[in-house]
Amino acid sequence: MTAIARTDRSAGRPPSERSRTGRSFFQRQLDRSLERRALINARAVAPFVVGPMVLDVGAAEGWVGQALADDDIGLMVSLLDVVDLNLATLPLTLYDGLTFPFGDNSFDTVLVMLTLHHCDDPVRVLAEASRVARRRVIVTESVYRTSAGRWLLWTMDNGLNGLRSGWQMPGGLHFAPVAHWLDRFRDLDLAVIETRWLSRGLHRHVAFVLEPPYS
Ligand SMILES: C[S@@+](CC[C@H](N)C(=O)[O-])C[C@H]1O[C@@H](n2cnc3c(N)ncnc32)[C@H](O)[C@@H]1O
Repeated sequence: MTAIARTDRSAGRPPSERSRTGRSFFQRQLDRSLERRALINARAVAPFVVGPMVLDVGAAEGWVGQALADDDIGLMVSLLDVVDLNLATLPLTLYDGLTFPFGDNSFDTVLVMLTLHHCDDPVRVLAEASRVARRRVIVTESVYRTSAGRWLLWTMDNGLNGLRSGWQMPGGLHFAPVAHWLDRFRDLDLAVIETRWLSRGLHRHVAFVLEPPYS
């Protein structure tokens, strides 16, 4: 298996500096608020990360991974995505959205944060996360309870992530209720060791801490 592209890190400056140049005033404001939110989310899942090798799947700007790496210099965090939105200084691998270009058990912890609902095939991505994770998979998802909640999520997510990525981010938007994800974890023999709400207001955001089979 091969990575189809890697972020060019050879120009001497970290990718974050290079990529931030030329962003509009509006994008910079949005970046700042998304970065703050990523820091909060990273700190919420940090107690469940077992290291040192961490893969952040659907990393977007890479801020969750960057916050984890900045808070714990012992962690080696790699980013994986289908589009290059990386503004962090961490290495990004791009792939085809189906098969992770890594061997079995390559990472101690695999993060899949706010990403499954964007994937064309969320179950395949979850199975791949489980395959490459030796000890832990951490999934966070936006979930709904009612059809109005689903509509709200769809509207907020489509608008925000479209603006955030210059409409590059794939928007399959397979939102689901908590029970749906619990069924998928059971299908893949992923044991749920903790479920924690990260927010329960307009945006219902839940974290699932999972152990892959044979971990
Ligand atoms: C809403 S962003 C989440 C960013 C970050 N994880 C966070 O918590 O802020 C969703 C990300 O999933 C990525 N994505 C979409 N399909 C994917 C796939 N099949 N595999 C991995 N990432 C994918 C998108 O490109 C995007 O960067």
